[in-house]
Amino acid sequence: MSLKMPTKSPFITISDNFDGYPLESFNINPYLATNLDRVLIPGGFIQDRIERLACDIAIDLADEPFVALCVLKGGYVFFNDLLDKIRHFYRYRYASQTPNETTDLAQQMKVEFIRLKSYENERSTSDLKVIGIESLESLRGKNVLIVEDIIDTGKTMVRLLELLKGYNLKTIRVTSLFVKRTPLSNGYTPDYVGFNIPNKFIVGCNMDYNEYFRDLNHVCVMSEIGKQKYSFKKH
Ligand code: IMP
Repeated sequence: MSLKMPTKSPFITISDNFDGYPLESFNINPYLATNLDRVLIPGGFIQDRIERLACDIAIDLADEPFVALCVLKGGYVFFNDLLDKIRHFYRYRYASQTPNETTDLAQQMKVEFIRLKSYENERSTSDLKVIGIESLESLRGKNVLIVEDIIDTGKTMVRLLELLKGYNLKTIRVTSLFVKRTPLSNGYTPDYVGFNIPNKFIVGCNMDYNEYFRDLNHVCVMSEIGKQKYSFKKH
């Protein structure tokens, strides 16, 4: 049996001329707020979109077990929310089914976690170091769903996909909660996209600026003051 073609519910486009919402309209730690400009996407809206992505993915991957591969660190909150919703979907889907001998879905989803380190300036662009997983061999022959927080230029994902080619995966699907519209894009588009966003640096939903702002539950645009304050130079 093979997987269904990706179900593509339309991603949400945040237009370039959308200013976002005032920070004061939400409950945001005032110490964080001084470093932010606006709320670009409120957390509740993000959860609603993840619910639909989970539904699309759960339907497409329903007939075979798969490995959900979380790209740390940024991807883990999306990963957690997404998998929670997919599990929910399967609980209902299988509730009334009688197990048969041809299909073994006793463990529909397995999870793996990786961190990526690239050496773009020092070595060739195909040189991507994967850490956090004992061996990518554990993915060989499996259906794999890669879960990433944001695609910016697309370089990281393209390099990861190149690397995984060597492991003869049965199928590979990629979901990213955000895709940035940037002139630096290499044109890569994931199978399942949450939001298509302007070319701005965003934080929140576990996305960081030099490890800060991960705890924000809304996606916000950094202010110039915030960027300077938390730039690597000062910390
Ligand atoms: P790419 O290789 O240029 O697509 O970069 C992807 C990675 O860059 C993501 O996994 C993030 O870790 C990081 N990144 C890119 N844009 C942003 C942003 O606006 N906020 C936080 N992290 C970002």
